[in-house]
Amino acid sequence: MNASTKQSFPLFDEAHSAEAVNARIGPNVDPRTREIASAVVRHLHAAVKEIEPTHEEWLAAINFLTNTGHMCSDWRQEFILLSDVLGVSMLVDAINHRRPTQATENTILGPFFVDGLSISDNGTNICRDGKGEPLVVHSRVVDIKGAPISGATIDVWQTNDDGFYDVQQQGIQPEGNLRGKFTSDADGRFWFRSVKPRFYPIPDDGPVGKMLGKLGRHPNRAAHIHFIIEAPGFETVITHIFAPDCPYLQEDTVFGVKESLIGRFEHVEDADAAEKLGFTSPFWSVEQDFVLKPLA
Ligand code: BEZ
Ligand code: FE
Repeated sequence: MNASTKQSFPLFDEAHSAEAVNARIGPNVDPRTREIASAVVRHLHAAVKEIEPTHEEWLAAINFLTNTGHMCSDWRQEFILLSDVLGVSMLVDAINHRRPTQATENTILGPFFVDGLSISDNGTNICRDGKGEPLVVHSRVVDIKGAPISGATIDVWQTNDDGFYDVQQQGIQPEGNLRGKFTSDADGRFWFRSVKPRFYPIPDDGPVGKMLGKLGRHPNRAAHIHFIIEAPGFETVITHIFAPDCPYLQEDTVFGVKESLIGRFEHVEDADAAEKLGFTSPFWSVEQDFVLKPLA
């Protein structure tokens, strides 16, 4: 390209800053990449124009992002945590999982899923540290017409009664505490024993936790049990059951609560029923079905 054929770009000025940057995107760039990059530049410049940051504020933002990166490791993803507390993770999930109203809704995956567990028998007690109020969970996996789905695999995990996942307390909690993997039977049913979940803080010892503090926000997740339900021919569901009496239900720090995912927990005072389950009375019981959407 010689000087006479060289493309000329608009010079940068305050009024046309985003246009000047976006004009530099090459002619052969993949259209989706162009769409994404130009939207990010447009919205970023609009925010800067609205905020009119001082140089110190701009540097504080750079330092915040730098510290967020430094906090990341093989087992800690501070950028995903940032996305979570800004509501971006739930928004991306909502955009990508628009389901018929009967189907079970997704919610946030979180960083504490452990893949590759072996299958446990239905009825297994996944609580291995003996802490917390006993809970029995009964469920059915069905399709949108209510027909049972047998052979679905169901991953389950939750914190212990102190508010930590086993992987956060290696050497303190028994390995695999409060995790299990089950399969649904011929009627689509599965069940397990556990403990009533409690609210707990997301990891808040890094820049995201500091940011929440500066914004006057608490770091707590509403009490929940995680589920991943997979069955051939159906969309995988990544979801929770929330405890209905949790004080943080309306203000989950990662915006994961959906009305349809709030379980009906029953407080059971029946010594015989408790004994049959190997529990002491009283105990908690929840029944919640999972409705899967067929793959398109
Ligand atoms: C969780 O529920 O395990 C979780 C979700 C988002 C961020 C941190 C933890
Ligand atoms: Fe969780």
